[in-house]
This record gives sequence, structure tokens and C-alpha cells, in this order.
Amino acid sequence: MSVSDKLRPTAVNTILGEVRAAQSAGRTLVSLMRGEPDLPTPRHIVEAATRALADGRTGYPDNRGEPRLRDAVAAKLARDNGLTYDPATEILVTTGATFGIYAALTALLQEGDEVLLPDPVYDAYQSPIALAGARARAVRAPIEDGRFVLSGDALEASVTPRSRILLLNTPWNPVGTVFREAEVRAISDFVIRHDLTLISDEIYETIVYDGHRHVSPASLSSELRSRTILVNSLSKTYAMTGWRAGYCAAPAAIIDAMFLVLQQSSRGPATFIQDAAAVALTASQECVAAMRDEYTSRRSRVLSRLGDLPRVRVLAPEGGFFAMVDARATGIPSNDLRRRLMNDHGVVVVHGSAYGEGGEGTLRVSFASGGETLTKGLERLREGLASL
Ligand SMILES: Cc1ncc(COP(=O)(O)O)c(C=O)c1O
Repeated sequence: MSVSDKLRPTAVNTILGEVRAAQSAGRTLVSLMRGEPDLPTPRHIVEAATRALADGRTGYPDNRGEPRLRDAVAAKLARDNGLTYDPATEILVTTGATFGIYAALTALLQEGDEVLLPDPVYDAYQSPIALAGARARAVRAPIEDGRFVLSGDALEASVTPRSRILLLNTPWNPVGTVFREAEVRAISDFVIRHDLTLISDEIYETIVYDGHRHVSPASLSSELRSRTILVNSLSKTYAMTGWRAGYCAAPAAIIDAMFLVLQQSSRGPATFIQDAAAVALTASQECVAAMRDEYTSRRSRVLSRLGDLPRVRVLAPEGGFFAMVDARATGIPSNDLRRRLMNDHGVVVVHGSAYGEGGEGTLRVSFASGGETLTKGLERLREGLASL
């Protein structure tokens, strides 16, 4: 089997193929599908990049990450997460969280290992697990009291002697749960009890609502910190998806192993991008608060437009910019429902089953785009869901 035989396209890319085919046949579609903020990157960050370019910061970067950016990451982790990491040995700058996840999995896993993965979850975790010769093991996460939960019982039922890693995403794409401190503590006890490593993807940490607060697992105890790889990026927080700037923090031995993977592949983001990323992390965070306010108001629009429909229920996200619509009562498979909404009503969302069996019967609605797109998309979605 070749390496690429182990990979599969992400759900969004598969749906994009269908969208393009429909558009070239003359259809006009509104997309509430992608996790791509429509907001511009804040001006001071763009200016920092152009300044760095003009200053000739175009050579190879330090492959661990430019020292200035690693210092900025360490300062950010202390400021926002109550975490102390040594920028010289415990931080790695990566090409987005995507590369951080890839490097972590590749560095840690051996053939035949298992990775515990909440189900449903961000579907792009699957391929790098397979690339590393390991297997994903689903931990079924049901909807309880209007939110998806990851229970201790479900974790215990899924773990086996081959389990090496638990991959957690909080705030959690696609379902919108923000793990509460007690939940993170229970997960932490589980990780320690079974001698696992935790990969903690915290890319949506700043996008939280209704008083929910992001708890970074490594901050709970030194024992958990010693077995956690924190993965984050600037993509969502600063509307910088195309900049490909991310970072990881972990004990030095793990960072060293990940650094080897990085040296032999991406070699990190461009030097001038790293300069701008350092500015983003250390300058005033007012732009982050303004974006959160904008997403808060979009979230309210989603909840009010879809909140009173018969047979479907919209779950209020605690974080991130996706809302899950629970359409299980219709009995229609989510991929059929998605196609029906696209073909008959001109609106594109992602079927919940793309994120695992636990997502069957649900739809992911993105409010990463606002304005007219959101207004029109919600109108079409409302019409389509009401007609079920
Ligand atoms: C949960 C999660 N992790 C990681 C990523 C990838 O982020 P990046 O742009 O930093 O590679 C995404 C992007 O949608 C995501 O939703």
C-alpha cells in the first residue's frame, strides 16, 4: 500500500467538489460550510509582515521557530493559559496546527498503536493517524442536555492496551462543546491512569460564548503537563488561515522528536510570517475580543433563525464558529439531508456523519462567514429544514 492510499480527502474538500460541479452547471449556492473566517487579518499584523519583508526577512527561518516568535509564544501561554514553557527547548513553530498535529502523531506513534478520538470530531485527524501506521479508535460522544459530551465511561469502554494517545479538541469542532474544568480534570485522570499522551488542539480557544472559559489541560497539573502536547495556531484567533502560522508546546524530549519531523519536511513558516505572528501574539488583544463579539452576534442570528423549527433542534455552541443542527428526529441520513439542502434549497452545510458515526443525523452550520452570506444561507436553511 502506498502512503497516499492511506489518506482520504477532508469532508469539506469532497463537498467543494460537488459545489464546483453544481456551480459550473449554473447553480448559485450559498455556503455555510467552511471554517474560514471572512474577517480580514488585523491591520497591525499585516503591517508587521510587510515591514519584515521590506527589511529583507526572507531567508530560511530558524527551523524550531524564530527565537522572537518562540519567546512570544511562551509569553502568550503564560498570559492566557497560566503555563510556563522554555522557549529554547519546549516550543516548536509549525506550519499551522495542521503540521503540529502531523508532527506530534508521527513523532509519537508506532505501527499498530491506537489513538483515541472523540466521535464526532474534526475529520482531518484521521489521515495523519493512518500515515503513522496507527489506528483511530472512536470514543462515542452522545448529545446530553443539548451538548455533546465525552464521558469517563465512554473513554474507559474504548481504551485498550494498544492505546497511546488521546486527541482532544476544546473548543470542539464540529460540536461546539467547551470542556468544563471538571470535565478536563476527569479526562486528565483518565490519561494519567492509562499512561497515555494527550494531544490538545486548542485552535478555537479565544472563540467562546456565554461565560464559557477555555481550560488548557496542561495547566491542571505538572503530571498532565509532562504528557501533553499543546497544539495551537493563529488561523482562527487572528483570521490568519492563509498565513500558515502555528505552534506546539510540550516537554523538550517530545519537541525534539517533532523537530526532527519538521526538519525533514516543512521547515516551518516563512521568516517574515513568523515576525508578524510574534506581533500578533504580543500586541494588544483587542482585535481578538472584537472578533469574538462579531461571532457572538452571528451565533445569536443562527440560534434565532433556526431555533423554532419543528423536528430539528439547533444546539447552542459554547465555543468555535459552528452550530450543530440535530435532525435525528427526521430519520434522514445526514449526507442525504445535506444533498437535499444543496440541490433543492441552494445552501451548503456539512453532514454530521462526515465527522464520525456519532455525528449521524446532525448537520454542521458554519458562521465563520457573516453578512449577506449568513443572512441568505440561514433563510435557505430555514426553508429547507421547515419543509422536512
Ligand atoms: C480543530 C481544528 N484543528 C486544526 C485545524 C487546522 O488549523 P490550521 O489552519 O492552523 O492548520 C482546523 C481547521 O479547520 C480545525 O478545525
